[in-house]
Amino acid sequence: MLKVTAPAKINLFLDILGTLDNGFHSLFMVMQSVDLCDEITVDKGEGGITLTCSDNRLPQDEKNIAYKAAKAFFEATGIEPNAVIHIEKKIPFEAGLAGGSADAAAVIVGLDELYGTQLSKQTMCEIGLKVGSDVPFCIKGGTCIAQNRGEVLSRVKPLKKCFIVLAKTEKGVSTAQAFAAADKAHIYHPDNLKMLEACSNGDFEGICKHASNVFEQVIEVVERVEIKEVMRLCGAHLYQMSGSGPTVFGIFEDKEKAEKCCDELKKICNNVFLKKPVKYGAKIQ
Ligand code: C5P
Repeated sequence: MLKVTAPAKINLFLDILGTLDNGFHSLFMVMQSVDLCDEITVDKGEGGITLTCSDNRLPQDEKNIAYKAAKAFFEATGIEPNAVIHIEKKIPFEAGLAGGSADAAAVIVGLDELYGTQLSKQTMCEIGLKVGSDVPFCIKGGTCIAQNRGEVLSRVKPLKKCFIVLAKTEKGVSTAQAFAAADKAHIYHPDNLKMLEACSNGDFEGICKHASNVFEQVIEVVERVEIKEVMRLCGAHLYQMSGSGPTVFGIFEDKEKAEKCCDELKKICNNVFLKKPVKYGAKIQ
């Protein structure tokens, strides 16, 4: 039996550039792994794929993206399907934190180890992309520019040591609906080149200054203004929604300020986490 750590991600930047021929959107993103992690166990069983999850609100069958990832792994390697998967859920779902993609990434990384297939990261990412656009990043992890569907990944300098406060409001957001809303709206585009420059230089101030997420223009999260205001008053350098939301994150250099911010946010929000950036994606424990 193997245990795999599956870190969540936040988007330091997200711009929608257009629509691709395959119906997906062409994106320019800066992704950052954070140490809010699901724990996935993978083992061989008596044939077939079985999946259980600590949170029974999530599907525990072939509809679960982690199940789909296992299926894609066996199809790609030609190995007879045989996996028992359990997901210990810590990452909130429909949150803009790639919780499902993180699980899928962990399953692929775990099965590769379990079966000794020694797939390259690139091959694992290709298998992952079959089940979700964020899976390749969740395999690679760290700090990356992500383009096209999100699978064209370039590693940039790691985000400097900081504290990341995450606040997830109750109502989840469907990514598909968020893209549909963006298609109908006129989007104002942020400065991608300035963000690229800041990331390439590991310029923390520049990253905070040029960070942006265009989904904030089309996705309404009732509590977002209030959450951001708490983060600002507590001294966050950056406060922004992640992905298609609703999670809002705040970045602090000072741990005490971040802790104080968590205390304040807990008064208005049920899911509040104090986390750090990490340099890894799905990894065997
Ligand atoms: O690939 P994934 O399953 O994460 O995508 C979820 C939803 O977001 C899908 O509806 C997909 O069409 C949309 N999406 C998109 N462009 C991307 C990534 C996702 O339109 N680059």
